[in-house]
Amino acid sequence: MWWEIPGHIDVRNNSLFIAGIEASGLAEKYGAPLYVYNGNRILDNLSRIKAAFDSAKLKPRIHYALKANSHIAILQLLADQNIWIDAVSVDEVRLAIKAGFPQEKILFTGTSVSNAEIEQLIKLNVRVNIDSFSQMRRMRALGFKGEASIRWNPGEGAGHHEHTITAGKYIKFGIPEHRIEEAFRMAKAIGINVVGLHQHIGSGWLGKDVNVFLETVSKTIAVAEKAEELLGKKLEFVDFGGGPGIPYSNGQLSFPLEKYAKGIADKMNASSLDVDVAIEPGRYIVGDSGIFLVEINTVEEKNIQVIGVNSGFTHLVRPAFYGSYHEIVLCNNIGGRKTDKFMVAGNLCESSDVFTEGKKELRELPVPNEGDFLAMLNAGAYGYSMASNYNSRLKPACVLLLNGKEQVIAERDSFEDLLDKEKALQI
Ligand SMILES: Cc1ncc(COP(=O)(O)O)c(C=O)c1O
Repeated sequence: MWWEIPGHIDVRNNSLFIAGIEASGLAEKYGAPLYVYNGNRILDNLSRIKAAFDSAKLKPRIHYALKANSHIAILQLLADQNIWIDAVSVDEVRLAIKAGFPQEKILFTGTSVSNAEIEQLIKLNVRVNIDSFSQMRRMRALGFKGEASIRWNPGEGAGHHEHTITAGKYIKFGIPEHRIEEAFRMAKAIGINVVGLHQHIGSGWLGKDVNVFLETVSKTIAVAEKAEELLGKKLEFVDFGGGPGIPYSNGQLSFPLEKYAKGIADKMNASSLDVDVAIEPGRYIVGDSGIFLVEINTVEEKNIQVIGVNSGFTHLVRPAFYGSYHEIVLCNNIGGRKTDKFMVAGNLCESSDVFTEGKKELRELPVPNEGDFLAMLNAGAYGYSMASNYNSRLKPACVLLLNGKEQVIAERDSFEDLLDKEKALQI
């Protein structure tokens, strides 16, 4: 199958295996719905990024974008890998610290940041990436004395969906091109210690977008050179953000890491900058490490053939929110000869609650039995971290496989969890 990755995701005797373990066996043992991550695949993905930059003779700071998958156990696994953290909320900063990342290896990149958050960031003593003039002014007023960088909007973006493009005209993030020099002047005037420049053009772009990305790298380098002139000092780093994607569907090619790394290195070498380079991959590190297992409740002909499963967009929102494609595999009969076209639907009271890419596009699958397990592949990024309790549905359990061992890294929610923060009526 196009999605097999030997040693990570394999088909054996017509059944799905992850890290050498039968997926349906895991679903039976821990119950479904269930996220399963292969920790060794996470480490391999990170190694491949490092190797591509080694070949390009550049040693970037790799900031893991924690929002992609924020399980504490996975953060702990990554904290041992000599990498940094991209955190987008104060509590992501706290999670990273709790997992063992030192403060000096955390860069906070927020948007619409409040005074209360700035005060907490000062206490947490982490670098802050500035998203707006307002934030910079308020950081000064609240006594921020640490190191800062400025996020700018290089004017062009890329992403797997409109919602994940984070640079361009109608975009809320960063300082726009026509005001970026003003931002450096203001930082100097009010005494904010700017040591870096940051861009993040979007999430989940593949080979065809690398050229757009590299154009923005050139622009960011030119702006960083200008910044050094305006600030009257050398910068410490430039950060090119995250975004490298993974193939979710047949025909999409793996991300061209070498072209990406060499492209950045060549542009840095041709510049006058003598700074560290940072990148912020999230999806690339964890995306293909995880599968999401669900159990089939119903198989029925309605106006169309519908497979109803015991999960919904509360657990994996990408198909409903972005129209994203996830490969869906019938765990114990992958190559089943008798097939049909199905909508794979969730158990929420919402018409958008389908795991197939849209309400009108059906997926050809082997005809399953009720009680069988389906696996949604490439569910390691923006899966559990975007989960919710809508419809009062319980969040699933998550299991990590690492070096031949298994560990539950998140328990399934219980009914009591739904009431945990609730207060009975007293007035
Ligand atoms: C500031 C920032 N950096 C990095 C990332 C990571 O993106 P990805 O997971 O696509 O690599 C994001 C996600 O959108 C982000 O907002």
